[in-house]
Amino acid sequence: MDKKQSDRLQDDTLAVVAGEDLHPLNSFQPPIFQTTNFRFATIDDMVEQAQGRRSQYLYTRNANPTLEVVEKKVAALEGGEAALVTGSGMAAIACSLLALLRSGDRVLAASSLYGGTLHLLNDILSRYGIAIDWFEITEPESLARGVRPATRVLLAETPTNPALRLLALEETARFARERGIQSVIDSTFASPFNQKPLELGWDVVVHSATKYLGGHSDVTAGVIISRRELIDQIAVFRRWLGGVLDPSAAYLLIRGAKTLTVRVERQNENTLRLARFLERHPNVEGVNYPFLESHPQYELARRQMRGGGGVLSFSVRGGWPATRTFFNNLKMIPISTSLGGVESLVTSPFWTSHYGMSEAELKNSGVTESLVRMSVGIESVEDLCADLDQALRASADSGEGTGA
Ligand SMILES: Cc1ncc(COP(=O)(O)O)c(C=O)c1O
Repeated sequence: MDKKQSDRLQDDTLAVVAGEDLHPLNSFQPPIFQTTNFRFATIDDMVEQAQGRRSQYLYTRNANPTLEVVEKKVAALEGGEAALVTGSGMAAIACSLLALLRSGDRVLAASSLYGGTLHLLNDILSRYGIAIDWFEITEPESLARGVRPATRVLLAETPTNPALRLLALEETARFARERGIQSVIDSTFASPFNQKPLELGWDVVVHSATKYLGGHSDVTAGVIISRRELIDQIAVFRRWLGGVLDPSAAYLLIRGAKTLTVRVERQNENTLRLARFLERHPNVEGVNYPFLESHPQYELARRQMRGGGGVLSFSVRGGWPATRTFFNNLKMIPISTSLGGVESLVTSPFWTSHYGMSEAELKNSGVTESLVRMSVGIESVEDLCADLDQALRASADSGEGTGA
């Protein structure tokens, strides 16, 4: 299916059919090409390949037909010309940035990025002569303050982890384009179902496909979507840095991505209902979710997102002692990291992603000891509410939630 054809189909259809017209031997499902290398019929073919007169599969680190199925599917879902799948979300971000930057360049980065991305910028890129300037996603004027003559890339995420703040996608992409800056957005928390940054003018979209695209917490992968020309540039970096995905993992990703839209629609619905339930709960102090009317950027959320996504965060009344009691009293919902899978789970950003950060950094990212981040799955929302409710009541009954 070419780009023109895929433009006419809905996401529900694309998730199922895009990329699936490639399979050899009339296979209904994509074969797993579990091979590192491919054969040449004659040495003359190999010579032609070397001279650029022939194009066949050569080595899986360069290209593999199973990986190409995922790439076509995700490119179609994001409305992009092409995509590249990588061994993790971090590999997708690293390949994209390294391909777009050179020593002496500067990145204008949102201060509320995933911890791994912050390490990449602060601890790794900085060693290769790439400097970082910061902006606040909810303060548009901080963008202009952060631009320097050497700024080449603007990097952000929306919604953010764990406060679920939003970046105005269309305005920010325009800001970058008008200044000749390449814009890169990590759209992991939204998934390609809820938000389409390329349509709003972004140059490159990256995802940790470990989350919604895979959807079953069983495959670590990343994906980069953009124009063909930029994807070709980034592909060189995937090849030489080596962050390719294994074909078996690519198969899991294909299988997961086929149900993306039904999963995420249900996650959107469950999460909004849970957010409303938590907002009314006496043992909860505040709830962050973009599709709650009380969210300070609710209008923006409705403008640029189809649904609010499957992650919310809230504060348990009564500080850490009550929050600890809450976590330890959950009966069904597990305590774990990550997000985007069919299973609900809860985590404490204070003790995981944001552990050891300074008070100012914690305040900036909206993290306290009482903050709970929940990734909402596809279970019955009544069962989820019941488990949260009994654990919240326990947090209050322990005497901690009342401040006693
Ligand atoms: C927003 C975001 N971007 C990138 C990553 C990194 O992805 P991966 O763990 O697949 O490398 C994560 C992981 O949690 C994430 O939440």
